Amino acid sequence: MNYQNTFSEIYSILKTVENTGKVAEYIPELKNIKASKFGVSITDISGETTSFKDAEETFSIQSIAKVLSLVLAYKEEDEHLWKRLGVEPSGSAFNSLVQLEYEKGIPRNPFINSGAIVICDVLLDVLDNPKKDFLKFIHEISGDTSIGYNKKIAASEKSCAFTNNALINLMRSFGNIHNKINKVMDFYFHICAIEMSCEQLSKIFLFLANDGICPIQNKKIITATQSKRINAIMLSCGFYDEAGEFAFRVGLPGKSGVGGGIIAIHPDEYSIAVWSPKLNEKGNSFLGTKFLEAFTTISNSSIF
Ligand code: DON
Repeated sequence: MNYQNTFSEIYSILKTVENTGKVAEYIPELKNIKASKFGVSITDISGETTSFKDAEETFSIQSIAKVLSLVLAYKEEDEHLWKRLGVEPSGSAFNSLVQLEYEKGIPRNPFINSGAIVICDVLLDVLDNPKKDFLKFIHEISGDTSIGYNKKIAASEKSCAFTNNALINLMRSFGNIHNKINKVMDFYFHICAIEMSCEQLSKIFLFLANDGICPIQNKKIITATQSKRINAIMLSCGFYDEAGEFAFRVGLPGKSGVGGGIIAIHPDEYSIAVWSPKLNEKGNSFLGTKFLEAFTTISNSSIF
């Protein structure tokens, strides 16, 4: 299939659709992004990458990074990890507090904010220098040392993190946070503030399409079982209270971020990253979701 032609065909159709999404504003620094940016990049299992429009421009990957922090924590803790959090879809917003009280401080899954904060707490117990070591891990699995944190975005999120602070305090009251709250949150804000381009995303995530082995570097990152399980959590929980809709329309495991990025995986075939900053009411990229729906339909390549 000629991906370049397919991308440009889909883009020209979608340009005619009214984009009713809005750029995320609750993290002040994210408002500064140009709303019309659009990029897409696919890397197939042989390691070949095809990119379209702004695919080389870096942006704030936000919650997409929660998959990478999960990968590192799962490598360290293996199945013990699931004593601290679950693998069930939450059916509620990414920053919801309600369920957490009923379920005694145990987050439903690693992709809602509470779950990703617990993962940071787990990592603080095993990493000597968490921010440095996490970035080192990202550089190792991507083979790309240009990837870094945007400190301005991390500081911007910290300045108004009222709901996330409520989440961690609630979990602390149930005994599910072991480290100092400020340290855990500082690490969490930095992980969310990692910047990558669509090209970098489609390459770094390829190991999840290949049973945990990065085909570009021929390097084992996680076991085939761990890879299968992370894909399963992406499919059922990657889009919060829109996970069912994304599976229904796109049919791939995936993960979104409020920076407007989405990564999606087709096991044994490819990984694809798309970026368009305007978000729908569930906090997922409006155009990105529509683009992926059209892509898996035209290429007949969903997992179903
Ligand atoms: O904690 C937050 O709210 C952000 N750093 C990440 C949220 C996010 O990306 C949700 N994804 N669609």
